[in-house]
Amino acid sequence: MIQDIVKQLEPLPSKSKLIIFGGGYSGQRIASVGRYLGTNVVCSRRQEDSKGADFIFNADNEISKEIFDGATHVLSCIPPLLSGEDLVLKKLKTQLLNLKNLKWVGYLSTTGVYGDKKGEWVNEKMSPNPQQERSIRRLACEKEWLETKLPVQILRLPGIYGPGRSAFESLSKGTVKMVDKPGQVFSRVHVDDIAGAAFFLINLYSEGKNPSVVNIADNLPSNNLEVIAFAAKIAQKSLPSTIPFEIAKKTMSPMALSFWQENRKVDNKLLCKTLGYSLIYPDFKSGLKNCFSKLKMNQ
Ligand SMILES: NC(=O)c1ccc[n+]([C@@H]2O[C@H](COP(=O)([O-])OP(=O)(O)OC[C@H]3O[C@@H](n4cnc5c(N)ncnc54)[C@H](OP(=O)(O)O)[C@@H]3O)[C@@H](O)[C@H]2O)c1
Repeated sequence: MIQDIVKQLEPLPSKSKLIIFGGGYSGQRIASVGRYLGTNVVCSRRQEDSKGADFIFNADNEISKEIFDGATHVLSCIPPLLSGEDLVLKKLKTQLLNLKNLKWVGYLSTTGVYGDKKGEWVNEKMSPNPQQERSIRRLACEKEWLETKLPVQILRLPGIYGPGRSAFESLSKGTVKMVDKPGQVFSRVHVDDIAGAAFFLINLYSEGKNPSVVNIADNLPSNNLEVIAFAAKIAQKSLPSTIPFEIAKKTMSPMALSFWQENRKVDNKLLCKTLGYSLIYPDFKSGLKNCFSKLKMNQ
């Protein structure tokens, strides 16, 4: 519920306006929370007929100047282009630099920039060491944003899940795979905590608590099998048999394989201890229960 997200949040100052580039899964949730808090939020999508498209932003169009009128906060949720460029900076850097009242610029990045750590913890003080091409591109975009000298804050995210995007969907479709790779863990974050943390960080930023990079992750990096088994138990679905990773990898897409080739636990102490954000869904169990309750409501 949106009330669970906003209970530790202060509204943004009146007359704030947040522009979200990339109103996809996370962007739409962040927009909903912003509007609930009374902020004027406008969200881009690539196509007119996409849900929640307040304006269109893609590689081919020009956006109207009015979009920027009164903008105080900007968030980009758009991944790097295959060329490695950041589309927002490529097309709109000058307009952003000319905004007089810009208080905060968020960039949703990924914890993939840390690279493989053989299951060890990663925190913001560590030097990124991306190995995948897409993570190398991502780190380059992070740097480009930071070099603008705008009030930029990078939010590094692990696997995003939430209602409509969780183990329940793959269990229902029968596409779930019980890949067994001992010692492998994945960090996660529920989409409501991305939205909650984003507004929490915006408010702290204006108080001068403004780290340039913050991990947004839950407390419990976990093995995939545990997560699927927990979801199956709640949904009363049977589990397929486990497949050893060495066999499963032969039929994995290159993208899926790239996730299994890296192993790290994402440390959230900066967000949750130093800055004081309280996670709404501290682990996959509480988060999956929320996803299941939404699934039931929609049936
Ligand atoms: N999914 C994960 O588990 C995960 C993990 C870590 C980090 N991230 C990153 O975190 C961010 C948010 O993730 P998400 O899962 O919420 O993303 P999402 O649902 O895929 O949304 C991405 C948004 O970016 C827009 N977009 C993508 N390419 C674009 C382009 N070339 N030009 C203009 N707009 C473009 C999309 O437009 P449309 O709305 O038109 O599709 C969409 O609004 C992304 O940068 C993602 O890469 C994701």
